[in-house]
Order: sequence, then structure tokens, then C-alpha cells
Amino acid sequence: MADVSQCRVGICGLGTVASATYNLLTRHAALIQSRSGTEVTVVHVGCRRDHPDCVLSNVRVSRDIFEVVRDPEVDVVLELIGGTDPALDLVREALGNGKHVVTANKALIAEFGGELFDLANANNVSIRYEAAVAGGIPIIKAIREGLAGNEISRVAGIINGTTNFILTEMEGMGNRGFEEVLAEAQSLGYAEADPTFDVEGIDAAHKLTILSTIAFGVPLEFEAMYTEGISQITVADIRFADELGYKIKHLGITAKDTQGVELRVHPTLVPKTSLIAQVGGVMNAVMVTSDAAGETMYYGAGAGGDATGSSVISDVVDLARDHVGIPGPGYLADAVNAVQIRPLEQIESPFYLRLTARDKPGVMASLTSILSSHNISIESLLQRDAKADEVPVVMITNRVKESAMNAALLEITSQSNVAGEITRIRVL
Ligand code: HSE
Repeated sequence: MADVSQCRVGICGLGTVASATYNLLTRHAALIQSRSGTEVTVVHVGCRRDHPDCVLSNVRVSRDIFEVVRDPEVDVVLELIGGTDPALDLVREALGNGKHVVTANKALIAEFGGELFDLANANNVSIRYEAAVAGGIPIIKAIREGLAGNEISRVAGIINGTTNFILTEMEGMGNRGFEEVLAEAQSLGYAEADPTFDVEGIDAAHKLTILSTIAFGVPLEFEAMYTEGISQITVADIRFADELGYKIKHLGITAKDTQGVELRVHPTLVPKTSLIAQVGGVMNAVMVTSDAAGETMYYGAGAGGDATGSSVISDVVDLARDHVGIPGPGYLADAVNAVQIRPLEQIESPFYLRLTARDKPGVMASLTSILSSHNISIESLLQRDAKADEVPVVMITNRVKESAMNAALLEITSQSNVAGEITRIRVL
């Protein structure tokens, strides 16, 4: 990138992730410019066919994706075709031509990353892959940057949404077995084209290979991984685990001690009360254990066009910032706009209210009538037995402005039929 006034992007592929990335780059062009300090523009897209959700404008389109990596107008290539053939040749050629590469391709990095990193170094360019692990969760940046001052001892997580979806559904009351839920996952579009990659743990193994390298600075060791999927797990196992106080989750675990590095993906019993046990459906979560920050956990969508596109763009912005020479992450000073901080009175939320009412006829009617005169309605109500002529009343209201709640509470507390303070807690 010689010209610092712009960062010219070429996209290879126009599937779910690529089209979402293009749309995000377009929709957030001003925001991205303010964060990267330069104009980030898509100049060339290589795709075999168009995408129905993506209207390409002012962009060169080639049906031969290799045209993109040969285009002298392109500074950064986004490899979003997946798989290793022809992605490997494509990325080799892009790096060889002096272009930075951003990829969402976990198989490519896990299996050929060593060679590609060397090639990038030799050509004085970067290859970035935040989107390759856990979709929209910025886990690579969290480990590489956020935890840079820590010695990390373990990274463990749910890094395949399809297997998590299947296990979560099998836990449900329907007694649905593995095959039945897998078919549903496929019909919902969660599973990879070849579901073996998900259910036999290969997708998770690719991702864990990358996490291990980032966490421990060890070479990519995909071949050394112990990989076990979930196809042997039955509803009976899930029920027995439950009786014992556990859930079954498919985890990737990499840990390092003086004996060496662990690299394994397999179904694992986790205590039902643990944080990781609460991660259900297609969601991903990664726990990192480190000496200074302690245990941290990162949760979010592990797949999907927008979530993965979000990670792709984070890498593009990093590259653009490096190029312009902006130190550290953050906004450009002149892109920081003064904003109005909203006064609390204007902010809306539902409220939990607890009060003590006098136990006499008409008290509830008068409370609800005051609330409704301020356009506040009651969503849930608990009323306990009276003690010494006083009744505890607990309610959750609809979403209302703080100012309306203040006015209503002022009116209620001035009534003689409420005893003592009213407790008010805002609900998210
Ligand atoms: N098939 C993957 C998953 C999504 O289920 O998590 C992309 O890595």
C-alpha cells in the first residue's frame, strides 16, 4: 500500500461471509474510515456467480478469482472462498505479489499457516485470520493483544456451533437423538457442507490449532491434535451426566505446562453450574486461563455472515491503521465527535418495584391507578400474605422513562397506604 490516503480491497468469493463483509464495508464506510484513518474501498470482486443479497457498485467484477490477486490496484486481498483448493494457491500468489491477505479460512491456516506466514514475512506483508476462529468473537485479538502481558496456561472452549446446537437439542425434553438433530442443524444451515467436519470435530480441531499457536507461540500442529466428535453421544449419556450434575459439551482444550502442550477436541462433562455449561444453541465461548488476568471468557456468535464479516473487517482496519501509521487502537483524534450524554430521566427500562402496602380494601386499585396515570403498566405481580396489616408487593413494570417512574413513585409515597421505602431496581 503505497498511497496512505486509501486502502484498496479485493474480495475473493461472494458467498455468505463475503457478501456480508462487502455490505458491512459499504454500510459502515464512514465509521471504518474514522477508525482506520484511511478510506477503505472495495475495488475488485472475484466470484463465479453473483450473490442475491449483494449489489456491487463501482467495483470491477471478475469470474476468475485469480484476477483479483493479480490486480495492481488491490492492496489487501480478502480470501473468503473457504477450503484449501484453490484457496492455498490463491493466497500464495497474493502474498507473492506483495498483497496483504485477510482470511476466514481455518483449514488453510491450521494446515498451511506455517508456509504462508513464512511467505508473508519474505514479502514483507501480513496475513490475518481473526475470522477463522469463533466467527464474530475477537478471540485472536483478545489473546494476542488484550492478554499480551500474561502467561497463558489454558484455552478451552466451545468452538463449533453445530455440535453445540446438536448437544443442546439432545438435552431437551424431546428425547431426540443425534441423527435427528443433525438433520435439523443441516436444514437450518448451521452444519458445514460436509457435516463430518463439524460432528467429527475437524472444524473445531482447525480452530484449536490456531488458538494454541496464538496462545503459546508454538508451531501449528493440526496433525498432532486428538480429535473426537459427538456422533457417539446418546441421549442416555446426556441424562446420566445430568443426574450426576454435569452437561456434555464438545470442547477444544489446549494447555501448556512444563511437560508440554495439550491439544485435544472431544465431548467433555462440565459441571452444570459452570459458565461454559450455560452456553447453548449455536453459540461459541472461549475461556482463557492466564496468570495475571486470571480466568476470562469470551462469548458470541461463532458463525454467520455478519458476525464473521465483523472479524474480517477488524483485520482490514488493523492493516489500514498499520499502513497509515496510527499508533495503538482507537479513533483518530479529529474523528471524535462531541456527543450528548442522555440524562437518566430520559432513559427507558422496565422496573422491579418492591413496596409494603397497608392491608386494606382498595390499596392495590389506588396503586395501579397511579401507575396507569403515568402510562406505566404492570407486567408481573407478586403479592405475599399480610403480616401485621402490611402486605409485601413486588412488581415488574413495562419499559418506561425514568422521569415517569420518578413522578409515579413520588405520588405513591405520598399516599398513606404505603409503608416505608419503595425499592426500585432497573431491569435490563
Ligand atoms: N460450521 C461451523 C460451526 C461454522 O458450526 O461452528 C464456521 O466455522
